[in-house]
Amino acid sequence: MSIKDGKRKNWGSRSGKSKKLKADDSATTILAHHALTTDLLSLIARGEPSLQEAAKCLLETRTTKNSKPSNLEKVFSTKLGQLYRGDCLTLLSKVEDDSIDCIFADPPFNLRKNYENGQEDEMPDHEYLEWSYTWLEACAKKLKSGGSFFVYNIPKWGTYYASFLNNYLSFKNWIAVDITFSLPIPNRLYPSHYSLLYFVKDGKPNTFTPPRVPIKTCVRCGQEQNDYGGYKMKMNPEGINIRDVWTDIPPVRHAKYKNRDANELSLKLLDRILDISTKPGDLIFDPFGGSGTSYIAAELKNRKWLGVELGDCSPIIERFKFIEDDRSYMEKIRKDINTLFTDKALQLRAKSGLPLDNYQISDDQIKRALGSFQKSMDL
Ligand SMILES: C[S@@+](CC[C@H](N)C(=O)[O-])C[C@H]1O[C@@H](n2cnc3c(N)ncnc32)[C@H](O)[C@@H]1O
Repeated sequence: MSIKDGKRKNWGSRSGKSKKLKADDSATTILAHHALTTDLLSLIARGEPSLQEAAKCLLETRTTKNSKPSNLEKVFSTKLGQLYRGDCLTLLSKVEDDSIDCIFADPPFNLRKNYENGQEDEMPDHEYLEWSYTWLEACAKKLKSGGSFFVYNIPKWGTYYASFLNNYLSFKNWIAVDITFSLPIPNRLYPSHYSLLYFVKDGKPNTFTPPRVPIKTCVRCGQEQNDYGGYKMKMNPEGINIRDVWTDIPPVRHAKYKNRDANELSLKLLDRILDISTKPGDLIFDPFGGSGTSYIAAELKNRKWLGVELGDCSPIIERFKFIEDDRSYMEKIRKDINTLFTDKALQLRAKSGLPLDNYQISDDQIKRALGSFQKSMDL
C-alpha cells in the first residue's frame, strides 16, 4: 500500500498536464480565495519582500497550521484495507504522491454538529475554508494521473471547493444528490440537494464506467413517468444513461442498520461512485471515515482501501464484523442497476395490467420479478 515514511515529493515537479500551482501563480490563486486574504495581508504587513513571497510563505505554512499534531495509530486492517485513527492531514503527509485511484471525501459541513472528537464543526467561514483547502490540495497531490476525486458537501462550500480544485484538477461534474428531508433556511430557497463534486487528474479518467439505471416509474402503478413513444423497443435493455441529478439515493439505510447518527451515507452512493470511477484492485482513500461507508463499499467491491478517522473508530470496526448485512443490502440494490425496469416496477405493472412486451426485457428478469407470472400472459 502507499503509506511511506518521511519524504514529500514536490507537487510542482510532476510532469503531465495537471494544473499545477506555480510559485508565481500563488498570489493570484490565494487572492482568488478571499478567505485567505487576512492572513496574507498580515504577512505582507510583517515586511515580507513581495506579495509573491508572502503567498509562497503562506502556502508553505498552511499545512503546518492546519495539521493537528496527532498520533497515527493503525486500528484495523483487512486483506484489502487499512484504517488509521488520527488526523487525515497527518496520514496524507505519509502517503506517496500520485498513488491513489479514487478519493471520496465527506468532511464535516461546519454546521455545528457534535463529532465528539475534538474536531471543531463551527469554525468561522474563512478558517473552515482554509482547513478545507489544505486537505483538498493534499488529496489532489495523492491522486494518480487519471484518478478521480469526489467531494460531498452542502452547495455553499461546494462553490468554493470547485473553484479551488479547478487550479489542480479537471472538472467533470457537479452532481446534485437529492435530499428528501432537510430544514428550510430563512430567506433561501428550500435546500434539497447536496453537491457531489467530481474531478479528475490530468483530464482523462483511467476508469469511467457509469452504471445504467432503470426508467422512472410511478411508485403506485409502475407507469413510466416519461413518454418514450415509439422508441420503447429500441431502448437499451440495460437501462438509461445516468444523469447528474441523483434522486434515488436514500438518506440512510433502514434504521435497523444505521451505524451512526446523521453522518452515515448510503452504501448506494458509494457503490455508484466506485462503479463510475474504479475497477477491482484499485486503491480508494477516504479522509473522513465516519461510519466507514466507503471502506465497506470498497471491501465488498474488491477494491483496496485506506481510511482514517479522527474520532472513535469502533463504529467502523464493529461494522466490518457485520459486513454480511452490508453485503446483502448491496446485492439487493445492485439488482436495480443495468436494467430497464426494477423488479418492483415490473410487479406493479403486472398488478396494474400495464404492458411489458413493447420493451426488450429478458425472460429471466420477468421470471425473477414475477415468480409464477409469465411474459406470455400479455402483462
Ligand atoms: C460527515 S462524517 C463522514 C461520514 C461517512 N462518509 C460515512 O458515511 O459514515 C465526517 C467524519 O470526519 C471525521 N473527521 C473530522 N475531521 C477529521 C480529520 N481532520 N481527520 C480525520 N477525520 C476527521 C469526523 O469525526 C466524522 O466522523
